[in-house]
Amino acid sequence: MADTRTLPQLAIDSAALQRRLNELALISETPAPAMSRVLFSEADLRARVYLRTIAKDAGLAVREDAVGNIFARWEGSEPGLSAVGTGSHTDAIPNSGLYDGVVGVLGGFEALASLKRAGFKPRRSLEVVMFTAEEPTRFGIGCLGSRLLAGSIDAAKARSLKDREGRSLDELREAAGYRGSLESVRLAPGHFHAFVELHIEQGPVLEKAAIPIGIVEHIAGPSSYRVTLVGEGGHAGAVLMPVRHDASLAAAEIALAVEKAAKTSGSPDTVGTTGVFRIEPGAVNSVPYRAYLEVDLRDTRLDSRDKAFSQLRSAADEICARRGVRLDFEEINSDPPAAGDEHTIEVIEKVCAALGLPSKRMVSRAYHDSLFMARVSPTTMIFIPCRNGWSHRPEEYASPEHIASGTAVLAHTMARLSE
Ligand code: GLV
Ligand code: MN
Ligand code: MN
Repeated sequence: MADTRTLPQLAIDSAALQRRLNELALISETPAPAMSRVLFSEADLRARVYLRTIAKDAGLAVREDAVGNIFARWEGSEPGLSAVGTGSHTDAIPNSGLYDGVVGVLGGFEALASLKRAGFKPRRSLEVVMFTAEEPTRFGIGCLGSRLLAGSIDAAKARSLKDREGRSLDELREAAGYRGSLESVRLAPGHFHAFVELHIEQGPVLEKAAIPIGIVEHIAGPSSYRVTLVGEGGHAGAVLMPVRHDASLAAAEIALAVEKAAKTSGSPDTVGTTGVFRIEPGAVNSVPYRAYLEVDLRDTRLDSRDKAFSQLRSAADEICARRGVRLDFEEINSDPPAAGDEHTIEVIEKVCAALGLPSKRMVSRAYHDSLFMARVSPTTMIFIPCRNGWSHRPEEYASPEHIASGTAVLAHTMARLSE
């Protein structure tokens, strides 16, 4: 393997990268720094135009698949070989920050640009991917684009997805100009020789340790559930307490059961969140007859996540039986954790050492498209610190220096992997 010091000197254009981050931040349904770019919203569609323009201006060949994953490719001298991939997402949950996902997409473009400026000629092709809907906001399921690429969700299940307004994935993707069958999204075997995603850590570890680069060894396994509760409504003044079947109270008890299950699983890595909680009819003088929850349960280990899940499931049955509320508990996804590829991790460690950047192996507690890319390619991730570990909120921040360092590590890594 060539040593990084034999590679051309790379200069990351940090100013250009920051300018693009700020330009993309203007494409949002909420004013910066509060981002919101939900799949196939007007902001998401405008972000796609922006990214296509960057890719074309950089001389990359753009391909888009039927679900809207965007691939920007720099053809290597041996185009028949598997490519080296990078990328992330630019969709953003409501009221989130500027950096989640975006750093990996814009950093990917800048990594390739720095290699081009240095006169580097890749042997394997280099590809930047903008994955469709890493965030679950629209259809309730995360990593929709990468799941389909990896064949981890079948096309029929994807077709049956509906958003809150009852619109299907097919209807929305076609309106956005994405035609063709969802079956065609799956990547050809061996498409990627390696995949490396650059991302903010979304946790406090790197910042606390003052280490600029994290290298992901494991990605925790996410699972999520839809819980629909139907009780009995009525007049808030007239229905006496002993005869009530209040769906919102069953929901409240279930949300507490989520917390308890996560805290008592025996693993410090189990986390449980009830992030969606809606009640109907939502009137102060009416007993809620219906409640709808979405629950997120994760762990780096499946056994402790399973334990927490069975505890939660029995608690939900008991709560609803006691309250006379009908329960529908449906799994949205239940994904195993993923392991980072040892060889790719070692390449990144060597790059960091050659660049004089301290690095640390770590776990990703958030999920990423890399969770699914790891099923079809040797994969790992490069993490950079973010302020206070904040993410999924407008105060999310990563410094220009850390973004530039992560991008430099990515560029050198891709160069090495392409040899
Ligand atoms: C990704 O955004 C996650 O929720 O981990
Ligand atoms: Mn996110
Ligand atoms: Mn992300």
